[in-house]
Amino acid sequence: MSDFIQKISELRRQLNEHNYRYYVLDDPLISDGEYDLLLRKLENLEHSHPELITVDSPTQRIGATPLKAFNTITHRIPLLSLANAMNEAELRAFDERTRKGLEKLEPVDYIGEPKLDGLAVELVYENGQFVSGSTRGDGITGEDITTNLRTIRGIPLALRTDELAAPILLEVRGEVFISKTDFTKLNAWRSAAEQTIFVNPRNAAAGSLRQLDPAITARRPLSIFCYQAGTITGTTFDTHWDFLQGLKKWGFPVSPLIEKLVGIEAVIHYHRQLETRRNKLPYEIDGSVIKINSFSQQDRLGIRSRSPRWAIAGKFKAQQATTIVVDISASVGRTGAVTPVANLEPVFVGGVTVSNATLHNQDEVDRLDVRVGDTVLIERAGDVIPKVVKVITEKRPTETVEYHLPENCPVCGHPVFRPPDESVARCQNLACPAQIKGRIEHFVSKGALDIDGFGTKLVDQLVAIGRIQSVDQLFGLTLEELAKLERMGEKSAANIVAAIASAKQTTFARFIYALGIRNVGEHLARVLEKEFAGNIDRFIQSTMEELIEIYEVGPIVAEGVVRFWSDDSNRAVIKACLQAGLTLVKPERPAGADLTGKTFVFTGSLEKFSRTAAKEMVEKLGGRASGSVGKNTAFLVAGPGAGSKLKKAEKLKIRIFSEDEFLAYIKS
Ligand code: IVH
Repeated sequence: MSDFIQKISELRRQLNEHNYRYYVLDDPLISDGEYDLLLRKLENLEHSHPELITVDSPTQRIGATPLKAFNTITHRIPLLSLANAMNEAELRAFDERTRKGLEKLEPVDYIGEPKLDGLAVELVYENGQFVSGSTRGDGITGEDITTNLRTIRGIPLALRTDELAAPILLEVRGEVFISKTDFTKLNAWRSAAEQTIFVNPRNAAAGSLRQLDPAITARRPLSIFCYQAGTITGTTFDTHWDFLQGLKKWGFPVSPLIEKLVGIEAVIHYHRQLETRRNKLPYEIDGSVIKINSFSQQDRLGIRSRSPRWAIAGKFKAQQATTIVVDISASVGRTGAVTPVANLEPVFVGGVTVSNATLHNQDEVDRLDVRVGDTVLIERAGDVIPKVVKVITEKRPTETVEYHLPENCPVCGHPVFRPPDESVARCQNLACPAQIKGRIEHFVSKGALDIDGFGTKLVDQLVAIGRIQSVDQLFGLTLEELAKLERMGEKSAANIVAAIASAKQTTFARFIYALGIRNVGEHLARVLEKEFAGNIDRFIQSTMEELIEIYEVGPIVAEGVVRFWSDDSNRAVIKACLQAGLTLVKPERPAGADLTGKTFVFTGSLEKFSRTAAKEMVEKLGGRASGSVGKNTAFLVAGPGAGSKLKKAEKLKIRIFSEDEFLAYIKS
């Protein structure tokens, strides 16, 4: 028997080693066929002794039965996105900002990485074992796709620990993608099997990861490169580079294109080189990612609302193609903006077929002088909606006419108005179905008032019969009138009335988000909730100066807010909502101390938790973490080796905590 156990463990070791050589070192020793043979051997042995099967055995990648739906997973640390640098000047500006932020004249150490065009995922390991994995989702919560991720052979089910011990907890972020050749093969196979083909590798990867049956995912050629740390406990790294090297030792595939770059010139050179190599690479990338190497420098710079200040995505120049404008139409958005759209003869560009391109506004139409029948150059940059770059006037047919946006809204027929100092023309009719529908749908959506059962069909009907012209009227809906609507039973009408009634108890953040103020998303709504302590009147009266003072609020958001409240009709809607019984309650806070208004600074080398995890804990409880000690600092948490910040805190008589004292305090 012991001989048998040894055989099994030797086979597993070999299979893991081959995986490592293939995915991490890119230096396989055996062919795929030989690998499969070894795997089958192991399967046979395990089959005769099922009690010896372990969860991290290479045979256990596709064990799970299909799911009914995905659960959600809340990320311990949000998965942020990256700010973009559209050109070299913006990369230089990033470097300027960084050095200013770090008070540094010398060149900064950066790491260059390719910006992979796939799907971001998070992998969680506890004591070296893969325990769960999720999609990015909205950055805060994602879908639990553990069983699907287990089928990806590049993802280690257990960490290698021969060079580096396994940490207690490890969260790793990476990008799941399909290589260009695998994509072509997959589509060829699908079209032979008369299945619909995928538009591009990214969609194919996304579709494959969202299968409820892991057996289907297992048949898709998914790859992964890991590139970012989440929470790590039990091991620390000083730099991002060291972390990436650690990832390789633990058995994670890391892009071979990562490079250490000292100073901005090296960054620019790296970016250019990557762009030249782009089309020759075996997988799709849409830019470079530049990150500050030192974790302590990253901490000092911190994050904005959605993206870190210590990293940037350098976008590549867009991919272009020429085609013909078949028509120009005007579309009306949720905010009433009337946008001209060029309807194009379909053309393949940057990996997808494009048949519409935005013309933004009348100024842009005039600048381009684009007309129906024109041949135009269009471009696509990443996920951005395609746009018309220029008209090829040599190819213009005779007898074309200039295009002008209609004077009346194409949806409701009301006059379209363009304020003299603005480029956007808007349908002024607040009750315009195009707007009101969008506004209501947003108002009742999950992150907003979350009114169950209030679907698109119901909104369509209520708007069509003129019952709802602004969001507050929703609160007056009665059981009788709902039940009378088409395809609505007594029971569902009652459910909706109940859902509306319970949605009247909401939070400041949900309500503010529901209103659809420009640039105020769910996260910022929570930031504002904290700042204004849930007081809506104070928020309505806030000034530009006051708003800009708020950490995470910039001039664009501030201006949007001020403009929103300067509109009497918006104020009237709020009043009507409150009169209809809407009450703002305090949000539920996680268990622990109330840290509202308290600022923490962390210094020294922390051993019990990472800085990012600490910041996360503090913010969850309503507090704030800052990089420097000042008169607003409430507590300094000092780990071993604390220096100048500790001295300054002592001088300012700021309360000082050890790591343990901090943990005890926030739990109290
Ligand atoms: S780091 C805080 N590194 O880009 C940094 N992201 O816009 C967050 N992506 O959702 C991510 N390659 O899907 C990072 N080398 C790379 C990346 C990368 C692609 C994607 C990722 C993320 C998005 C951020």
